[in-house]
Order: sequence, then structure tokens, then C-alpha cells
Amino acid sequence: MGAVTGYLLGRNLAFRHAPALANGLMRLGNVTGRGADAEGEAALDYFEGVVEDYERIAAHSGVCEGDGHEAALFGGRTVLELGPGNTRAVAMLARGRGALSVDGYDAFDLQTRDPSRLRALYENLLKRAGEDPSRVDELLAGGRVHHSASSLKATGRRYDLVISRAVLEHVRDLEALHRELRELTTDDAVLIHKIDLRSHGFEWDHELDFLLFPERLYRSLTTHIGEPNRVRAQGYLDVAQQYGFTPVHVSATRRISTERVAKLRDSLAEPYRSLSPEVLSVLGIWLVLVREGHPLARSAKATDLESIPAAPSGMAPF
Ligand SMILES: C[S@@+](CC[C@H](N)C(=O)[O-])C[C@H]1O[C@@H](n2cnc3c(N)ncnc32)[C@H](O)[C@@H]1O
Repeated sequence: MGAVTGYLLGRNLAFRHAPALANGLMRLGNVTGRGADAEGEAALDYFEGVVEDYERIAAHSGVCEGDGHEAALFGGRTVLELGPGNTRAVAMLARGRGALSVDGYDAFDLQTRDPSRLRALYENLLKRAGEDPSRVDELLAGGRVHHSASSLKATGRRYDLVISRAVLEHVRDLEALHRELRELTTDDAVLIHKIDLRSHGFEWDHELDFLLFPERLYRSLTTHIGEPNRVRAQGYLDVAQQYGFTPVHVSATRRISTERVAKLRDSLAEPYRSLSPEVLSVLGIWLVLVREGHPLARSAKATDLESIPAAPSGMAPF
């Protein structure tokens, strides 16, 4: 634990005092939810899969109106993508599926600086979808990635669909984000988040050993780097409900066995040690929420986090 602590401390200090360098390093490191190796065909598979998974989980949770056709998710929507990362591929595909506009909100400026690389990715994605690759600019027009809430609000848009993948676990101030989302969304908005509850790479011999750090120590080591906030499923539900977003679907994208949890549970820092093995076993979730004006808001049932069902099959685990 000592070596990891020293490494985190040094990295956090560097990122704190040189944010421009931090952004550059993250771009170089290709920080995305898809891992550093996913280029070429793998990147096409990834982005297609991300968009299709949003459609599948939306259809599964019943938030799409009409005949239940999956493509109904994006059609006619004003979309906000949280944390798009280094490309606008999801935005372009969503526009191709009928979204009116897609803006992004990202705390960091990670967009790839190589326009030819991005264009090749976008054109290949359109070709695969059987669309005209020359539509890239048209599809990306009318939306952009914002880096502050004030810039986003200046668009004057209210979003009726918010999507995020591998983002919320990086957000340190979830209350502030939800406060902004409350202002930025329509009263019938749908929000779909895929949240990765794993440690993101500094575990040493157990999936949960990042929960060994007492909260103050962990915070001081990671204030300026993108390590996860360690919030468990309940925390996301609580903050969402506090701001009037009602959960209509929660499922586990990945879990470990409760026997595996038991190997470490008694050594975890609080509040993790007091959580049940079932709760600690969940390493990723889908969370679908609606605002009060959505028809599902009235019929939503309470979520039992002690027995979160598995996510529908056929979707990417993270
Ligand atoms: C692991 S990447 C995921 C990128 C992309 N969604 C994907 O699946 O490839 C996490 C993203 O969340 C962004 N992010 C981190 N903290 C954020 C915050 N507080 N608000 C908005 N975006 C944030 C990061 O800059 C990055 O783009």
C-alpha cells in the first residue's frame, strides 16, 4: 500500500499544479472507457456497442415511447452526453439515429488533437452503418463539447435525454452535477448512466482493495486525478432522488461472489466495511432515471439494492 500511496501522491501533486500538463498527459494516455488499445476496428465495435447498449437498456426499461423499437431512443431528442472523452463518435451516431442535437459536457478537454484520425473514425463508423461518410460535418454540426456548466447553459437548450458511460464514477461533486442537470433537463427527461464501480487500475490483489484507504487519505491522494470517487450504487440513487430523478431501472453489469467479498470486507475502511456483502459484490451498474413529467415516474417501484438483478445479456460488461 505504501508504494501505491507514494505514486498517487506524486501524480496528484503534479496534476494539481499543472492542469494543462494533466490534460495533455491524459490525451496522450488515451484515457477513455474503452482502454488504450481500442483503435481501428476495435474502436468501431466499441462506439457502435455503446450506442446500441443505450438503446437496449432504454428499451428494456421501457423509457422509449411508441412501439418499443430500440431506435426510438434518440429520434427527436435533444441529447446531452456527459464525459464524451476523446471523440464525438457517440454524438455523431446518435445524430445519425435521429437526435435533433447532441452536446457534450466534459470536465476535461480530452478531444483527440489529430483531425485526420478523428475523421477516419467518424467516416468508418458511418460506412459501417450504411450511411454516407460525407455526412460527418452535418451530423456533428449544431452541438459541441462544453467544459463548464455556464457555457452549457448559454446554449439555451433543455435536454430530454442525458447519457453517460464510465463517467459518473469520476465525478467528485455529484450534488453539483445533479443540481446543474436539474436546470438543464426537461421535466420529462430520461437519464441513462452506465457506472463502473471498479478501482480503475490500482488494485493490487483484490478487486475491492481501493476501498481499504480511509476516505480522507484517499481524497487527499486523488483530488486532481481521475481516480474513481468510490461511491457505491446507493450513493448514485440517493443523489439522483434528491434532485428529483426517479430510478426506473438498476441492474448489475458485473459482480464478484460474496465469498470473494468476505476475504477483504472486515479490513475495509468505513463506510464500506458496514455495507452488506451483496452490495459490495456489485462492480458496475446501469442506472436509468426519469424526471417527474415522464409517464414512468409515477409507477416506478422502490429499488432493492441487496438484490440488484443482472443486466440484460448481450451488452458490454463496462
Ligand atoms: C473513462 S472516460 C469515459 C469516456 C467515454 N464516455 C468513453 O466511454 O470512452 C471518463 C470521462 O469522464 C470525464 N469526466 C471526469 N470527471 C468529470 C466531471 N466531473 N464532469 C464531466 N465529465 C467528467 C473525463 O474527462 C472523461 O472524458
